[in-house]
Amino acid sequence: MVELAQEKYRQLEEFMAGVKQGPRPESNLIAILHKAQELFGYLDREMMDKISVEMKIPSAHIWGVATFYHYFRLTPPGRHTVSVCMGTACYVKGAQQVLDAIRNELKVELGETTEDRVFSLQEARCLGACGLAPVVMIDEKIYGGLDSRKVIELLRGYRKKAGQALVQG
Ligand code: FES
Repeated sequence: MVELAQEKYRQLEEFMAGVKQGPRPESNLIAILHKAQELFGYLDREMMDKISVEMKIPSAHIWGVATFYHYFRLTPPGRHTVSVCMGTACYVKGAQQVLDAIRNELKVELGETTEDRVFSLQEARCLGACGLAPVVMIDEKIYGGLDSRKVIELLRGYRKKAGQALVQG
């Protein structure tokens, strides 16, 4: 486990070393944060401090960027990732209401994970299923034609299964 983390850090360091050779390394901060999230699944304070030291960018600035963009996750991902499509086709068909219903049901904001670590919530731009709008993807599975009621039922189904899996160990 420790070895795996070290290997990921090594890959991140390699990525930052490549970026540093560019003319304005700080302008690649978003690419670095993406890489870190791709490797570790989320960005925490420790990670941002490491990037800050390596890239000589104030950690307050890194924190500001990471919290500004909803696609950066600041807590470890939950068992299921819920991606709400906010692309145009989904938006005009009520994606905002679907998102609001999810936020209310799960009591989390975009980029956060529920307390029980079952769900992480994120936003997506066009999941390629516009004909089914509004669309939500849970892990790799697409669900279309949703409304506030249907999406809550869907999430409760997932939560129930996650609870059963925990009981069964
Ligand atoms: S806009 Fe949502 S799937 Fe295309």
